[in-house]
This record gives sequence, C-alpha cells and structure tokens, in this order.
Amino acid sequence: MSHDPIALAQPALFRQQALIGGRWVHGEEGKSFDVHDPATGKVLGSVPSLSARDMAPAIDSAIKAQKDWARRTAAERSELLMRWHDLMLEHREDLALLMTREQGKPLTEARGEVGYAASFIKWFAEEARRVYGRTIPASAADRRLIAIQQPIGVTAAITPWNFPAAMLARKAGPALASGCSMIAKPAEDTPFTALALGWLAQEAGLPDGLLNIVTGDPATVTQPLMASTAVRKISFTGSTEVGRLLMRQAADTVKKVSLELGGNAPFIVFDDADVEAAVEGVMASKYRNTGQTCVCANRIFVQDAVHDVFVEKLALATSRLKVGAGTEEGVEQGPLINAQALEKVTAHVQDAREKGGQILVGGNPHARGGTFFEPTVIANATRNMRLFDEETFGPVAPVFRFSDDDEAVAMANDTPFGLASYFYARDLGRVIRAAEALETGIVGVNTGLISTEVAPFGGIKQSGIGREGGHEGKGK
Ligand code: SIN
Repeated sequence: MSHDPIALAQPALFRQQALIGGRWVHGEEGKSFDVHDPATGKVLGSVPSLSARDMAPAIDSAIKAQKDWARRTAAERSELLMRWHDLMLEHREDLALLMTREQGKPLTEARGEVGYAASFIKWFAEEARRVYGRTIPASAADRRLIAIQQPIGVTAAITPWNFPAAMLARKAGPALASGCSMIAKPAEDTPFTALALGWLAQEAGLPDGLLNIVTGDPATVTQPLMASTAVRKISFTGSTEVGRLLMRQAADTVKKVSLELGGNAPFIVFDDADVEAAVEGVMASKYRNTGQTCVCANRIFVQDAVHDVFVEKLALATSRLKVGAGTEEGVEQGPLINAQALEKVTAHVQDAREKGGQILVGGNPHARGGTFFEPTVIANATRNMRLFDEETFGPVAPVFRFSDDDEAVAMANDTPFGLASYFYARDLGRVIRAAEALETGIVGVNTGLISTEVAPFGGIKQSGIGREGGHEGKGK
C-alpha cells in the first residue's frame, strides 16, 4: 500500500524499524502494523510488531549498556544528554510535524511539546550532577556512615499517544541521567515521534543499547519486560485499568513502579474570581490537545453569582475555536485520536443530553467527518451524568452550578481519581482552604496550565504512584 509521505527536512527522522542495541530492526518474525494520520485516516507508514522473543536482545543490550554507563561520571552523562536536548530543539520543526501527523494535535501545540520534552532532558541533565548522598554520625568517633544513591539499573517505560515526545523524555531523562538504561514502548497510535527521538539519541552519541525503542502489541512486548528480573523499574503513563494490571505483574519480580494514570480534573470558579481570567484558564486546560490530556478540566463547577456570565463567555470563546487538521493554518482543535475516542465522547454528550444537559455549543461529531468532534459546552450538568464519573478525553466542557465552597470541594473530591484540580478565587483564606482541601496531586490556582519540568507531576488516589519532573522525579 502506498503511504502518505511526511515531508521532513531531515528524512532520516522517519524510522520504520525498532531500535534495539543500537541497531534498527524489523524483528525476527518481520511482522508490522500500520500507523494512521487521525486527520485523514491515511496510512503514514508502518512499524514492527515485535515478538516476545525480540525482547531478549533488548533486555541484554540494556543490561550491558547500563553497566558501562553507570561507571561514567555524572558530568559525562549530563553532557551527552544536553547534546540530545540540543538536537531535539534543532529538529523541532520536523519533530512537530511528525507528531502532528501521527497524533493530530495542532502544529503550534506540537512545537510546544517538543520544547516541553527537551526541557525534561535539560532539567535532568542538570539534576544528574546533584545526586547527593548523606554522611551520618556513627557510634564510634573514627567512623561515619555514608548513604549514597545508586542507579536502579535497567528500566522500562510505556508511554501514551497523547504526548508522544514529552512522556518519553519525562521518563528517559531521569533514568539516563542517573545511570540507568531504558527500554521504551511507545503507544501503537504514535510510535514515529519516539523512534525519531531514538535516532536523535544515537546522533547525540548515547551508547548503543542505552535507550531501546520497541514497538508492537502491548501485551506481547510488555510481558517479557515485566517478567524479567533484570528490569528493575517500570514507568507507565496511561489508564488506571492498565496501571493496576502492571502493578500486579510488577509484584512477581518486586519491580519499582511509577504510574501516571487517569484523571477527572475539577475546575472550580468561585464567586470572587476574575471571570475573564477563569474563562481563559478553562480554555487552556479544557481544550489542550483537543481535550486529550490527563489533566484537562473534566468537570467545571461555577458558583451562583458568576455562573451565567461565565457560561456565556465560555460558550462564546468555544464557538470561536477553529477545528481542522493540525497542519492547517490557525487550527486550534485537531481530530480525536481514533474511532473509539470519538465513540466515547459522543456517548458522554448523548448521555448528558438525555439527562437534562443543555448543549450551548457543539454537541455532535464535526461536519468534517472522521474523528473530528465539535468543541462543546454543556450547561445544567449534574452528578448523575457519565461525564461526572469518567474522563471524557475530548473537547467537551460540562458546567455544574454550586452555591457554597464546601459543596464545590465535596463534588470535586467525589471521584476515585486525584491527579489535577484547578480553581480561580481572589480571597487568600479561600485560596489556602481550597488548595489544601482538594484531593489531587497537583492544584492549579488562578491558572489553567500546570505542566512544567521544574515541579513534581503525579496523582494520588487511583491516579497513580510516584512523581515525574522536579527534583522528586529523579526516580529513586
Ligand atoms: C498527560 O496527559 O498524561 C500529561 C500531561 C502533561 O504533562 O501536561
């Protein structure tokens, strides 16, 4: 079948093989699967569907590379990582285009994601030089106890389709900087960005086998990694359901786990908020990546006194969003990743409609067809709707009305998830009370954007374990 080509300035970035032990391979069975452009449905190319047996050389090369890498000084490791960082930025346009074509996000967001990805490599290249231990007084005057931090060893990463570059960088950065090696498995929908990053890692001079990028069916590829005693840590970003499964599998070899799982972010607008700013904040959080991030506002709670004006402004701003292929000029909302995503978003809106939700804007699959969905605002949202309990993962903004602060916080916390929350308020006492009462790992106050390499990112409750980014993200 002929492929829809991606016009890259550096064509070598488009890899259709897996990276194992420094070699680009098709896998011993030679099987492959196609990757599609969600904006057109056309095939972009294919990548290997590796077998379980292909994982043995990946693990062996990661073991070998790690031993040598851990012996290098932190400064040497840091220097190579900085070269990788620089190359990412040098090839920003190509990486952004690859990402937009396979993932669907608008080019401006894809460019932003390349910068976000590179920021993790830089941050951890710097942090690598500050992996301190402790000297502890002993019971004898001529002795001291010394506690040092050592690399974990071989690590595995399973990364999601919504941030094909940043989630790989957020996991590989700390692992490699601290002397570990990694076997990374990108999502089936978006392997090309990760493979391009693998090629750039080689160009930067990272040793063979230090970063392996494997592609294929998740269960087939992941099972040997989970069963291996050599793989000492697994880091996963994705659904809570898969996170639970990996946690169970990790128990057999007592692997460390780091899990960034589902969210159900509340966004509260209190009655002393700057309403214009709150609308801007919701737009930034809700519609980032067409609503497909784990930290997108999923439920918007607005207090009586500002409810009507807020809803009116939100509906107007939403109606102005430009929908289209991410490569088109000025587009702000791309397609959803695949047909299943479209089905879920459509079902959530239909459920809300049937239960009394008032559709103010959108509400239907977009006239462009494919997996495009109209940016949607729903007023009169209520507790019994599916979108209260489940992450919609699409461009749908349901607004719930509330009267008092305790009621809002109680509704916000009424979920098994606890990744991110947001609120807008001016009163300092209220800000402190709400920030501490919200049961989430991250709280955005008077902002809709909370993602940065310099602060810890992660959830509580069933949204995960561990922190990525910040100095906490060094992955002890
Ligand atoms: C995610 O959606 O999993 C990550 C979002 C982010 O890093 O901002």
